[in-house]
Amino acid sequence: MNVSQAEETRVSIFDNNIFREKFNRKWFDFEHTLAANPLFSLERLVALAKLTAKLRPHDLYFDKGASRIGQRWNETPACDLPIEETIRKLEQEGAWIVMKHAELDPAYESIIHRTMSEVLELTGREMERKVKFAEIILFVTSPKRLTTYHIDRECNFAAQIRGNKTIYMFDREDRDVLTEPEIERFWAVDNNAAVYKPHLQDRAEAFLLRPGNGIHIPVNCPHWLQNHDNVSITASLNFKFKDAVLGNVYRANHAIRKLGINPLPPGRSASRDAVKRVLLGAGMAVSNAAPNWVLDRFKHGIR
Ligand SMILES: [Fe+2]
Repeated sequence: MNVSQAEETRVSIFDNNIFREKFNRKWFDFEHTLAANPLFSLERLVALAKLTAKLRPHDLYFDKGASRIGQRWNETPACDLPIEETIRKLEQEGAWIVMKHAELDPAYESIIHRTMSEVLELTGREMERKVKFAEIILFVTSPKRLTTYHIDRECNFAAQIRGNKTIYMFDREDRDVLTEPEIERFWAVDNNAAVYKPHLQDRAEAFLLRPGNGIHIPVNCPHWLQNHDNVSITASLNFKFKDAVLGNVYRANHAIRKLGINPLPPGRSASRDAVKRVLLGAGMAVSNAAPNWVLDRFKHGIR
């Protein structure tokens, strides 16, 4: 595929019935055309990584050597080599390179727009109002590298470009695997709040990612990945919902739980969710944390 062909090609191929049944609730796999797109070759991504290091260093993250599935992000050793060298030594370094906001590079911008319109074809355009932004995150990983257990804020379509890797997916509604307080802490204060429980590993489903396929990972859906003995490239085509959609309800519930009250999870009562959204939204507008007058309202019966 040359660059002009790639520009016109559809990005993703979904089974429409499965998409409508499972979107942002359960994981499902799909096919895509990005593996043949020259924008995602390793050579092209090396150039992008160097440019990102120069222009937007905060959008580039790399480390080496996660060794435990349940390891926290901040326990992973930082990479002491510059990005150029890390990429050159990809085969040996145990590296995990993340390039955020690749869509800010004009060459990649149309891909996220096309993905978004392909998703909206199936969800209906009203979903667009709930989306804060759409993003491409590129992951380049060394052979056998582990990606530790976590949940994400983004609604993700992870497209495998190069190499094979296995993703282990849990059911996000399984409250033994992922407790309500863990989800609340994740949205309120701690990106690593989801705790891996090795004795529940057999509740995960393993799915093989290979060039040309991908997996839809709903918001809050626990997962971890094991790269095979190959360099892997994955493009995460994702979008983040506005805080008012879900984040503020979980933040409100985090505050309510700290008062010793067991809060009602989101989705059980539209009116309570709406009150939490409004109170948290208003509170966060004047302060970085939920102020006391918001907490007082929770004390008086809103849970
Ligand atoms: Fe993830």
